[in-house]
Amino acid sequence: MKTTVSVIKADIGSVSGHCVAHPELIDICDEVLNEALEAGIIKDYYISRCGDDIDLIMTHDKGEENEEVHKTAYTAFMKATERARELKLYGAGQDLLTDTFSGNIKGMGPGVAEIEFEERPSDPVLVFCCDKTEPGAFNLPVFRIFADPFNTAGLVIDPKLHDGFKFEVFDVIEHKKVILNCPEEMYDLLALIGSTGRYVIKRVWKKNGEIAAAVSTERLNLMAGEYVGKDDPVCIVRAQSGFPANGECVDPFAFPHIVSGWMRGSHNGPMMPVSEAEANPIRFDGPPRVVGLGFQVSNGELIGPVDLFDDPAFDPTREQAAKIATYLRRHGPFEPHRLPAEEMEYTSLPGVMKKLESRFEDMD
Ligand code: 13P
Ligand code: 13P
Ligand code: MG
Ligand code: MG
Ligand code: MG
Repeated sequence: MKTTVSVIKADIGSVSGHCVAHPELIDICDEVLNEALEAGIIKDYYISRCGDDIDLIMTHDKGEENEEVHKTAYTAFMKATERARELKLYGAGQDLLTDTFSGNIKGMGPGVAEIEFEERPSDPVLVFCCDKTEPGAFNLPVFRIFADPFNTAGLVIDPKLHDGFKFEVFDVIEHKKVILNCPEEMYDLLALIGSTGRYVIKRVWKKNGEIAAAVSTERLNLMAGEYVGKDDPVCIVRAQSGFPANGECVDPFAFPHIVSGWMRGSHNGPMMPVSEAEANPIRFDGPPRVVGLGFQVSNGELIGPVDLFDDPAFDPTREQAAKIATYLRRHGPFEPHRLPAEEMEYTSLPGVMKKLESRFEDMD
């Protein structure tokens, strides 16, 4: 029987400002998921949090896009939103764009990453959860995990990895997708995924079709047609025995690469890998964070997790990220700290342009 890992996440309110999801909201999600467990809808679950985003990590045997599983997540977020409203939490119900469930949580606001697979004799699965950034933030680390031999030595020295991987890339603006093979089409892949706001890695497979990774690619602001926060993404990665080793899956995060998000979803900043306890984006509402959780999936049960970035070997990354944060902050409202106008989630520019319209003159 196949096992499915579904990670469904949403920001439904936080304390204070956009900082931390309130513990009571997590308790409510826990109650709902526990009921689903007892009803046999899911087999196991773990609830994590990165900043103001709650991450529901669920296992079951019902496949991807299962109505009952999605409804469980939706019910958890709806019930927790009621409490968030009572507590007048910041952004209560922020990521829920509709209050009626229609069979699939996709398009309703929450982010979704799911993988279905036949369990190996031992199956390490890693889950990465971000706050204050967007799905394209995973392009660089996921590329490095599955395609960069200077990160993943296994691509060179492990016969089970030597064939490489297939990448599915979504064009989130035009709503198109393409599958590219690595290493054969590596330069074409990089030509796309370097544009992190538009081309987003959705899935990775082994060449034989076995799933290797999945990323939530929902772009809330595009769905809602207005700014409702960044789409703080999640990513599931399978490791070891035919996939990159755990250590190869976490090492790309030792480089605090620059991602879009941070304050008002309108700034570039360094991605800081942190433990669950340190997933509190405070400085200028950031800098952007990623939490890593390492599980063994065993007959549908989640063994673990290990808090992957709770490792002093990542301290220099965090220090470097803090220094980069200081350097970028000195730019204030200037690019490249501030995002280009077309990518900003908030902008006063149309209003400013309207006000100045009559004062603009043609240049000779
Ligand atoms: P161990 O010898 O500790 O099991 O490590 C094996 C390995 O491949 C680590 O990447
Ligand atoms: P979130 O997407 O995490 O809610 O952040 C929104 C924001 O404006 C932070 O400054
Ligand atoms: Mg928020
Ligand atoms: Mg958030
Ligand atoms: Mg958000």
